[in-house]
Amino acid sequence: MSFQRKKMQESVTIDGADISVWTEPQVMHLSRSPAMFMINWNDMHDFNHRIAKRMLELEQDEKFTHLMPNAGPKIKNIHKWGIPEAELIHERAMEFFSQATANPRPTVDVAWGNINRHRQYLNPHSHTNCVGSVVYCVDTGDADPENELSGRFVIVDPRVEECCPIEPGRVTLELTPDMKPGTMLVFPSDIVHFVHPYTGHKPRMTIAWNMK
Ligand SMILES: [Fe+2]
Repeated sequence: MSFQRKKMQESVTIDGADISVWTEPQVMHLSRSPAMFMINWNDMHDFNHRIAKRMLELEQDEKFTHLMPNAGPKIKNIHKWGIPEAELIHERAMEFFSQATANPRPTVDVAWGNINRHRQYLNPHSHTNCVGSVVYCVDTGDADPENELSGRFVIVDPRVEECCPIEPGRVTLELTPDMKPGTMLVFPSDIVHFVHPYTGHKPRMTIAWNMK
């Protein structure tokens, strides 16, 4: 991946206002080798609670929900969630992937919301049938003062330099991006990642995409 900008003018209308998909956000390196990137979408703060509310509604609809053992429900088909706030973040995820991979016409393999509740977690994994993965934080849930790793998204992969500060190819350090509501990551889909057990009580919510 190498980050390349391109002009884009598309917008999504929310409450009568046209919100630009690409607002020239500050793009930060999550890792330099391999290149992975992070954006904080500060203008999503007004919209994240609406996305969270919609996810909790759709959780009750079996057409959208797939229950993962230990990890909680996945809310499928973000393009059918029916609210412009979800459309906006979906467009931003596609644009972020497009620019990170210099692919002008990305396709989404799968996209889903995650709702994690107390003691739920995600095992280490990578994704097949795609090039890049995007993760967006809707709500971090509760902070646990006794467990700073609660619900933390983590990358552990011997190909990531930041994970191997002592000896190349040997993982001795977790790469833990500072994710808050509005944070979006993009990384190669073959990179191994997981989510630490969440020990808060308010639902922790994220959205993920696999694209190629
Ligand atoms: Fe994943």
